Amino acid sequence: MTPKGANKNRNRILAIESSCDETAAAVMLNGSTILSNVVASQIEMHAKFGGVFPEMASREHILAIYSVVEQALEDAHLSLPEIDAIAVTRGPGLAGSLVVGANMAKALALASGKALIGVNHLEGHIYSAWINPDGSDDFIAPRFPCIALIVSGGHTSLTLMKDHLQYENLGDTLDDAAGEAFDKVARLLNLPYPGGPSIQKAAERGSATRFDFPRAWLDHSFDFSFSGLKTAVLREIKHMHSAGIIIPTEDVAASFQQAVVDVLAAKTFTAAEEYRASHIIVAGGVSANNALRKAMTVQKKYTVHIPPLKLCTDNAAMIGAAGHFRYIQGHSDALDFDVLPTWPLA
Ligand code: KG4
Ligand code: ZN
Repeated sequence: MTPKGANKNRNRILAIESSCDETAAAVMLNGSTILSNVVASQIEMHAKFGGVFPEMASREHILAIYSVVEQALEDAHLSLPEIDAIAVTRGPGLAGSLVVGANMAKALALASGKALIGVNHLEGHIYSAWINPDGSDDFIAPRFPCIALIVSGGHTSLTLMKDHLQYENLGDTLDDAAGEAFDKVARLLNLPYPGGPSIQKAAERGSATRFDFPRAWLDHSFDFSFSGLKTAVLREIKHMHSAGIIIPTEDVAASFQQAVVDVLAAKTFTAAEEYRASHIIVAGGVSANNALRKAMTVQKKYTVHIPPLKLCTDNAAMIGAAGHFRYIQGHSDALDFDVLPTWPLA
């Protein structure tokens, strides 16, 4: 059922995202056009601790949320009454961080009488592929069935989508998420947080074949495992240390990155083949990685959708895109919903 007064063809959704260390708000038109997209990042603060410090993250969200939402409305040249619905990340994520965005969204929904739509953060990453970032006429939206590879700091999974908002989980990581592996290996190499961009930068000057790090293929499974790879890197670094060898940071970074990319790309293509999907979505923070982007797009058999860099890492535009598809299907949540810090996508 479409909500009363909802315009299926032209709706403006105010979206809020605060699941981790980015306070973000955006206004989306029809789930595809960005009217505004504001991100206040806490990365610099957390970098001092080498990772996200949950209590500080929620405090920073509280400090930033009002001005971020205000800015998103201002950039879109809209006021709250002109918005059709409020979408917000309900989970998964850090409980104290999620609550800040959710409370803001609840207050705005209560004050405006508009629908409140809780969105799964991973669903948001997937729906970043439906955003036409610069309003191009050549933009192609994903077609079903499609395979979505979600690679972020907290998740690594392969999902089959046969239609909008329909998810069939094909595989998950059994241990570390891909982004977590990047962050941990960066720490072993004394590279700054967040580890993904640091490893990528170091890898640009390194040899991807110098070290033959293990790839966990986990035959006949779409699950992933990165902890053995991380341990192999640790063992190699310790071995070189004890032998008095200067650590070739660039080569270790490049060889590690290649091992991750090989497994992610191969499993995604196998899933697309098996489920006869001609479209593939790659989303989440690690989809910003240039080696992964290259590995996924070098072939011409599949249409691969990878969002532009600013939409790969956490943002609210993607929550507004997913919120749109929920809104036009009549979805709305109670104003007293709880956040879901461990909410699975399927
Ligand atoms: O999706 P995201 O912004 O937050 C979560 O939902 O977790 O992903 C953050 C993760 C971090 O682990 C970060 O190191 C990784 O994405 N990342 C990258 C790159 N940029 C961010 N990993 C590899 N290469 C990159 N260029
Ligand atoms: Zn994310």
